[in-house]
Order: sequence, then structure tokens, then C-alpha cells
Amino acid sequence: AESTPFTAVMPIPPVLAPARDSRCDRYDITMRTARVEIIPGLLSTVNTYNGLFPGPTIVAQRGRAVRIRQTNELSVLTGVHLHGGKVPAAHDGHPTDTIAPGASRVYDYPNNQSAAPLWYHDHAHMIEGDNVYSGLSGAYLVTDQQEQSLPLPHGRYDVPLQIRDARVLSDGTLYYTRAQDRPHVLVNGKERPRFEVAARRYRLRIFNTSVDRPFDLRFADGSEFVLIGTDGGLLSEPVRVQSLLLGAGERADVVVDFARYAVGGSVVLVNAAALATENADVMRFDVVCTASDSSKVPGKLAAVPPLPKATVERNFVLAQDWTRGALINGNVYDPNRVDVQTRLGTTEIWTITNADPAGPPPNFHLNHSFHTHLADFRVLDRNGKPPAPTELGCKDVVRIPPGDTVRIAMTWSGYTGRFVFHCHQLPHSEWGQMATIEVV
Ligand code: C2O
Repeated sequence: AESTPFTAVMPIPPVLAPARDSRCDRYDITMRTARVEIIPGLLSTVNTYNGLFPGPTIVAQRGRAVRIRQTNELSVLTGVHLHGGKVPAAHDGHPTDTIAPGASRVYDYPNNQSAAPLWYHDHAHMIEGDNVYSGLSGAYLVTDQQEQSLPLPHGRYDVPLQIRDARVLSDGTLYYTRAQDRPHVLVNGKERPRFEVAARRYRLRIFNTSVDRPFDLRFADGSEFVLIGTDGGLLSEPVRVQSLLLGAGERADVVVDFARYAVGGSVVLVNAAALATENADVMRFDVVCTASDSSKVPGKLAAVPPLPKATVERNFVLAQDWTRGALINGNVYDPNRVDVQTRLGTTEIWTITNADPAGPPPNFHLNHSFHTHLADFRVLDRNGKPPAPTELGCKDVVRIPPGDTVRIAMTWSGYTGRFVFHCHQLPHSEWGQMATIEVV
């Protein structure tokens, strides 16, 4: 479908109010279909959490447990994973722990982890890409006292941007096809929306919720903004950047000062990784008023402690084989197989190589986006060179373009049991690019 950019107003998904008791915050979420306006004037049928596209935002306090009862009123199997959550294996949304149509399941999240922009999304075995594409994702923000003590923009000036691509047919159908055939860019469920801001600082939590498209986000006027955090939480120090390369599943926490624009001005966020045939616009910020601003970006944000010395090293090769599937070390995922075993508390270095050859655009399918459950990692180096600003701090997804070798380090702590790691280009994980680590 054709559309005129910047006509829809960008919605901010509502924060769900919990039922509180002395032990936890409780939520009931229903997965059901809904008719939503992705492109102005067209109705699309999508799969949702609570009828919202994307789902409602959950705000969790560090150290306070959250219990979510998920009820599946869809006609497909589902399963919910808290991406970036340190969660016991039984509540991690393992691919084969699915919720049948008509059934429900309770997920317990301890939230014993630092402030970070997590997200929840579907993970049902071999259909996670279809389910996430159809609408099953939402933001889950963990906050803590350390973060709240910082003078960062907060409240209405702290805004999630959940960015993904889509193909919407002229009858409104949300159609799942290859990334290069998905020309519509959605922010919080609307195609190329506009967002009215005051001339002051905003904190933007940017999520790449696309199933397999990397974004290279910049302001059209080339202006700088400040990166303050990545997947796993705040950086130790802010970094000034002009672009943000985010692979499928990655997040960036940024502060943008719209005071540099006059009231009545506007600035477009663009995707420099758009294909030559695509419109690169993502959304427009319209500066509509002034507002007082006592926020600041402090020079020290958080303590990101060094990891202990690694005692185990492993190598993983990611490759696609047109006859067998997308592989990790030559294997397709088998939920009954343990691929690697480690002891609780072990620090490891993983060397991950994308063995697929580079190719001319459209080449989104040649990228990989490596993700681990349970453990956050640090990027040690990429092709022997220091990591980019967006790869500093705690991470749970790292981009691996064709030919690249990335070394990461993590400590397998918190819980024992079986957890998966996989490519977060979900067509790849659906196609077998997933494996199991058992923590004993
Ligand atoms: Cu965001 Cu195993 O996934």
C-alpha cells in the first residue's frame, strides 16, 4: 500500500498497571487478534498482547518479582520469552514450552538485574518469526534506584521507539515476506509517524523489533545525540554518536536534545541502511513548544564491572546451507540435544564467525544477529578491533555481518537448566540456527 509519511501520530504503548501484593506485581495478558490502523485509512488484522500493537509496556522494579498469566486466544501455538531477562529455565519461554490455543501459562520473572530495556516476544518453536512479525512483542523496562538517582529525562520525556519493518497490502493485510519486500517502517505500530516534542532533552529507548532487518539510524541533519545504554543497561559513560547500527533484537538508550531546533521546526530520523529503492525515512520529530528542562546526562552513568577471567573458550560458526537450513557449527537446532554444557558461574569467551559470503544488496538475509538467553555478554572485539560505541557495556545481541568474527565474554550465572542461544534474525532461528547450553 502507498502512504503519505508523517501523517499518523506516533502512539506510546500504555504502561500496564499491575495488581500488587506483598510478593510480586501481577499481570494478566491475553493474546488475541485485533484490527489496527498501521497505515492511515487501512485496517490490518494482527496478533497482539491485550489488543495492542505493539503490546503494552511493563515496568519492573529491580528485586521485585513480576508474575504474568498469559492466555492464548489465538489459533496458533505461542510461547513468551522475556528477552534480556535473567529467568529460571522453566519461565524462560523455551521454544518447546508452548501455550496451546485456549490455554494459559504463568511466567515468573525475578527481576534480579540492573535497569535495562528488555522486551517480551513470542518464541514458539519454528514459528517465532511469524508470530513476532504478526505483532507479538512489547517493551519490558527494568528500572532500579541507581538509574532513578540520575538526572536523566523521565516520565513523559522517556519514550520507547519500537522500530520494525512490514509489508502492508492495499487491502490492509500485514504480509510476511522477505525483508527486501517489506518497505514499510513502523514505529510503535504506525507507519512513518510523527511525534510532537518540546524543545528539550528526551530519553529514547530504541528497540529493533524487526524480525531480520538491521537499521542504521541517523538524524537527517547529521546532528549528534548521546548514547547512554545498550541491550543490558546503562553504559559506564555517555558516548556522543551520529549514527546507531542496530541488528534485529538490539536496543539503544539515547538522549536527544531537541532544544537545538526552534519551535515549529522538525527533524526526520532516517535509516541509512535502507535499500536504494526504499524510502529511508523512519519518523519525524516536530518541535511544537518549549518546556523547562532540568535533566542532564551525567559523565558517569553506571558501574559496569569487568568480567572475571574466562576459563572456557568456544567457537561457533554460523552458516546457511540451502538444503539443510541455517546452521550453528554444522547443526540445525534439535530441542532434545544439548550442544554445550557449562558449570554455574563459569566465565567463557565465545568466538562467533559468520561464514556466509558477502553479497550485493538486498542482502539482509546474509547477516546474523547472535543472541544468548540467561547471560548478558560484553563484546571483546570485532575482527580484532575494538567494539563500536553501540557494542559497549552489557549486551545480549550482537550483529555478525558476512565474514565478521566477533568475540564475546559472559558469565553463566543465576540459574541452572537448559537455555537457548540463536540468531535473532528469526527466519534463521526458525530454520535451525539455534542451540542449547545446559548450565549445571
Ligand atoms: Cu529475543 Cu531467544 O530471543
